[in-house]
Order: sequence, then C-alpha cells, then structure tokens
Amino acid sequence: MAAPGGPRHFLSLSAAGGDAIAAMLSEAIDRKTARAGWPKGAPDADAPLAGHVLGMIFEKASTRTRVSFDIAMRQLGGSALILDSGTSQLGRGESIADTARVLSRMVDCVMIRTDDHAKAEALAQHATVPVINGLTDRSHPCQIVADLLTLVQRGKALPGLELAWMGDGNNVLHSILEAAALFRFNVRVATPAGYEPDAEFVELARAAGSTVVLTQDAAAAARGADVIVTDTWVSMGQEHTHNKLAAMAPYQVNAALMDGAKPDALFLHCLPAHVGEEVTEEVFEGPRSAVFDEAENRIHAQKSVLLWCFGKL
Ligand code: CP
Ligand code: NVA
Repeated sequence: MAAPGGPRHFLSLSAAGGDAIAAMLSEAIDRKTARAGWPKGAPDADAPLAGHVLGMIFEKASTRTRVSFDIAMRQLGGSALILDSGTSQLGRGESIADTARVLSRMVDCVMIRTDDHAKAEALAQHATVPVINGLTDRSHPCQIVADLLTLVQRGKALPGLELAWMGDGNNVLHSILEAAALFRFNVRVATPAGYEPDAEFVELARAAGSTVVLTQDAAAAARGADVIVTDTWVSMGQEHTHNKLAAMAPYQVNAALMDGAKPDALFLHCLPAHVGEEVTEEVFEGPRSAVFDEAENRIHAQKSVLLWCFGKL
C-alpha cells in the first residue's frame, strides 16, 4: 500500500480494498460500453491519461498482460513501453531500488511481472510513481479484476457466489481468495494434498465471513457451483514434474464436472490454457466457457486499475 500522500500502488486486491475494486468494475463497464465497436487503438473520448507513459517490466513471459496494458494506455490517451529483463540492466544485476528511482524520473507508472513478490514490493517502496503487480509468484490481482468484471457482465452477483477452483493452489487462486474476502463470496478449493493455497489467504477470506472449503474431492467442490475456475497445473518458473501432473489429473475440468455445477454455471481460465490437461476441449470450447470475454476484459479492467493508480477514480 502507498504511504500517506505517496503514490497509489496496486500490489494486491486487499490493499486496494473493496470500494476501490467496486469503483474499478463500474468504470470498466462504463468505458467498455461507451467505446463498443470502436477501433481498438482509438482513444476514449476523454483520453484521461493523455501525455502519460506506463513502463512495463517483464521478468516472465506474457501475452495478455503485455498487450492489454499497452492497449489500455492507448485507449486512455497515453502510451506504454516494455523493459524485458533479458535486454535491460535489471537482467545484469542493477538493483530494484535504483531501477525504481530511475524509472520514476522517466515514466508515470510502472507495471512489473516477476517471480519474486518481494521485488514488486521493493519497487513500490523505492518508486515515486504508482507500481502495479502484473503477476508475481504470490498473486495476480489484475487478472481477478477482469474475472470479476466477466462474472458481473455474465449476470452473476458476487455476494454469495459459489466459486469452485480446481487443481493447483496458486497465485491466481490467492487473488480469488482476496476477492472473496472483499465481495463476500464463497470458494470451494479442490486440490491434491500438498497443493493447497497458502493458509494466509484462506484465513483472510474466512475472517471476512466467506466460506472456504478445502477438499481433495473435485466433484464435491463442483456440485452446485456458479462458476468453475482452473489454471495451468504448472505455473511459470515451476518445475514440470511427472508427479505433479499425475496428482492433478483428477482435477481436470471436464463435462461431468461441469454437469455437477448449476445449469448456468460458467467456466473461467486466465489463460494460457493447456487444453487436454487442466480442461477438456469440450468444456474450453463449450457454451459455458467465458474465457475469451475474460481475456478481452483484461483491457477494460486494466484501464480502471490505471485510472485508480493515477488518482482519477
Ligand atoms: N492471464 C495472463 O496473465 O496471461 P499472460 O501470461 O499472457 O499475460
Ligand atoms: N499461474 C500462472 C498464471 C499465468 C497467467 C502462472 O503463474 O504461470
């Protein structure tokens, strides 16, 4: 979180708070509606970030986060540039603190995708401009703003929603649990033993009044759910082991699992997907899958995150 009077960082959903996230969702819907059918690079009528530049640091691969932040800045009237760790001095050992101070003199906001959440925190600590978490080993808050937007636009009320998570208890699930705490929805988490989410996030959601069930029974978790969510079984930077893939197999989202959920249940996946592993082609391509709305919504969600960071929301 930002120091009083300091820049507004977006490192986690919890630190931003429920009012901020609700305002982001409402703004995203308004802006998305207002520009329906426009060319994707055309700026919104008010171009609220005209003249502003976003710097994006990528220490890991990305398609959606990279493109959606770039297009989000264009639509807000600003621009964006990319620093890959392999082609910037960060990759040769320049410190985060120095990088933060230099970038703060050159750009108006910094987004970072890194393997080490502590690096995102250090960047925020030393930057004098807002810092956005574009995925770390710990969480993926921008993704979940887009997921909440997708759920709301598909007619799902967040309070009381029953969300079932299948597979690996990872960074994306951590941000879902933070959102559950803010919007009072319930999460059934089905993972193999040893792959549960960090207890800290489970406790956070429970302390806020959400019901969080941890189970190894995928069918039980899916039963009666409003939405089933999964992610790759092996996140970036993790080792691809035969044992992990074998342990995950019972948690594949398939037609039988979806049939146990509510008849109008949705399927979400942050992508990239490994169709045939964590989800079958039938579900991924099927009528209940909202994954490409979810991907598009990264743009609309990111615009709201940016406006909030710039103090315009
Ligand atoms: N969902 C997501 O963050 O995708 P990328 O890794 O392509 O950015
Ligand atoms: N859990 C995945 C999400 C990718 C967008 C990862 O960290 O690789």
